Amino acid sequence: MSNHKITVQSPANIAFIKYWGRYDHQLFLPRNNSISMTMSGCMTTTTAELDSKLTEDLIEVKFFDQPYQKLIRRTEEIKQENIFAQIDRIRKIAGSNVKVHIKSENNFPADAGIASSASSFSALTAALLLVFGLHDKFEDKIEFSKQVRMCGSGSAIRSVMGGFVEMLSGKTHDDSYAVQIADQNHWQLTDIVAIVNPEKKKISSSQGHLAAQTSPYLETRIQEMQPRIKQCREAILQKDFSKLGQCIEQDSISMHIVMMTQNPPAFYWGPGSISIIKEVMRWREEDGLEAYCTLDAGPNVHVICQSQDTTEVKKRLEASPFVKWTIVNQPCAGTTIIDQHLF
Ligand code: DP6
Repeated sequence: MSNHKITVQSPANIAFIKYWGRYDHQLFLPRNNSISMTMSGCMTTTTAELDSKLTEDLIEVKFFDQPYQKLIRRTEEIKQENIFAQIDRIRKIAGSNVKVHIKSENNFPADAGIASSASSFSALTAALLLVFGLHDKFEDKIEFSKQVRMCGSGSAIRSVMGGFVEMLSGKTHDDSYAVQIADQNHWQLTDIVAIVNPEKKKISSSQGHLAAQTSPYLETRIQEMQPRIKQCREAILQKDFSKLGQCIEQDSISMHIVMMTQNPPAFYWGPGSISIIKEVMRWREEDGLEAYCTLDAGPNVHVICQSQDTTEVKKRLEASPFVKWTIVNQPCAGTTIIDQHLF
């Protein structure tokens, strides 16, 4: 077993076809396939080391501009519980009882619809597999993505590989995993995140996935998205931006209709979100500036454009009174081992 210090870096990703709702809450099987692009500007870095002197696992996390905080094992927070469950699960697979020291930091605001858990849970899982000597399970990206799924963050599964990735929902543990559609060098699209509210969201995605089935529109969404998934995959391979953009906007609106009509409702859009959606549509119609909006479980708007339009779209977004700041992303590698340790 390895007890060397190991550090990994993992990106967030933006879903073009969204995952919302689950088949199975124990195995975290998503209700539908999803497709995303990795985000070069939103990274989690995680260092892990086994330490036989520790009597408890020591987990220190730093979200964006906040100070480091220690996580406690017994908590009501689902995400924190999932972190400890993932540590225990991987330690058991490795046949170890040694405690682990983990330090992790994000360079962007957490829990505000920027898929923070995608980067942090993929980084955590990679660091654990590697520090517990399960290198094969990290190197085999299909196996790695299944291991990530077991920590309960569906979006994290898509951060294991670079570029454009599809999460196959599957019906069992063995057939629910991620595959790469095209790598990070295939197409230099830009995702500009317009931050309108960096605060933590009030309804977590985990609560949301549970409630999704109460929406009368979930089944309609699942039916209508089947051709859209195929179109999205094709648009990426053909680099057809208009076709991709339509898929992106339709799918985001469709997911938010399910969210808004589930019980209890999850209404993530704010006045700033709606203002930006309408502006982006107007730029397209009146100015021929082609950009498309997509929102995850939060009010911040991801505006997808072609790389030649990045400067103009960023300038226009920053002129909005609702936008606090922007984060520019291009496709990047998935979870990677790096040399710069955090301790
Ligand atoms: C709305 O279960 O991955 O972002 O762990 O909070 O990131 P978090 O949620 P997760 O579900 C995210 C759903 C989504 C759409 C998507 O990324 O597919």
